[in-house]
Amino acid sequence: MTQQKKTILSGMRPTGKLHLGHLVGALENWVALQGEFQNYHLIADYHALTTNPETADIHANSIDMLIDWLSAGLDPAQSPMFRQSQIKEHAELHLIFSMLITTARLERNPTLKEQVRDLEMENIAYGHLGYPVLQAADILLYKGNVVPVGEDQLPHIEITREIARRFNALYPSEPPVFPEPEGKITKFARLTGLDGKRMSKSVGNTILLSDPPDVITKKLRTAVTDPQKLRKGDPGRPDVCLVFSYHNKFNPAETAEIRTNCESGALGCVDCKLRCAARIGDALAPMRERRTHFEAHMDDVRDILHSGELRAKEVAQATMHEVRTAMRMG
Ligand code: TRP
Repeated sequence: MTQQKKTILSGMRPTGKLHLGHLVGALENWVALQGEFQNYHLIADYHALTTNPETADIHANSIDMLIDWLSAGLDPAQSPMFRQSQIKEHAELHLIFSMLITTARLERNPTLKEQVRDLEMENIAYGHLGYPVLQAADILLYKGNVVPVGEDQLPHIEITREIARRFNALYPSEPPVFPEPEGKITKFARLTGLDGKRMSKSVGNTILLSDPPDVITKKLRTAVTDPQKLRKGDPGRPDVCLVFSYHNKFNPAETAEIRTNCESGALGCVDCKLRCAARIGDALAPMRERRTHFEAHMDDVRDILHSGELRAKEVAQATMHEVRTAMRMG
């Protein structure tokens, strides 16, 4: 008998074109694990409304993100990709799950607290407080076993596990309806932005996966380095330099030499940045090529989304049938 593959469910909010932080923090893992797992990837368009209920850009942003996913190597034949809003079962399971967790528990969510602080929000929408509950529905509708995400999402996976346990205990069935999923983070879980802060679209300190080489070079020129290294000849400290952290990720073959020459002062920051920009440009070249292809074949992109949504719907409906049976509300 062939062993059933475990399931990956992961997603992102449709914020438009993706940046290096998305690639390194999660997307790379999705692609690497494809094949070993059955992947499902969701465009969390309802989640996008938690911090901004305006919908004018959501569709275009969703398509842009989907193109980045495809360009990074997600294969639509293997891995359904779909919009959360098109599968009504997400809303239904979210409602049921919202009875299985207290507001006090959700108020303790560190990711929410961080967001409220970063976005200087004075009031939190009811749906924003429930963000992890909807995320739990996303994951558990597909019975996700493994959830490769950025580090900031681990508290949401913990809440998902608690909800799964609570559901299984309240509404027992054999086997239990839901697995307890595990989060999986990448080695470079947090990529620093060009200004030394966390890379984030809202801050504008990103390198986009779709940036052409000249833009990458221009952006890297503005990157902060070791503040004690003012000019070539000054000894630098690679371990406090974000450009060095990019070399670590995108230029592993040369990091030893760069460390030596940075520390001795022989390598100046301008040269170091140019070399780094070239390596990042190389790494992104195949993705840019695939993006150009998809942009010229937008009908294919729409078909990919449509067929992903049909496949997702089937799984989601089957799970909801089990849910209602276990709850004796079938
Ligand atoms: N909350 C995730 C983020 O902001 C996006 C997301 C929504 C997600 N639903 C998910 C991630 C389910 C993993 C699994 O990045």
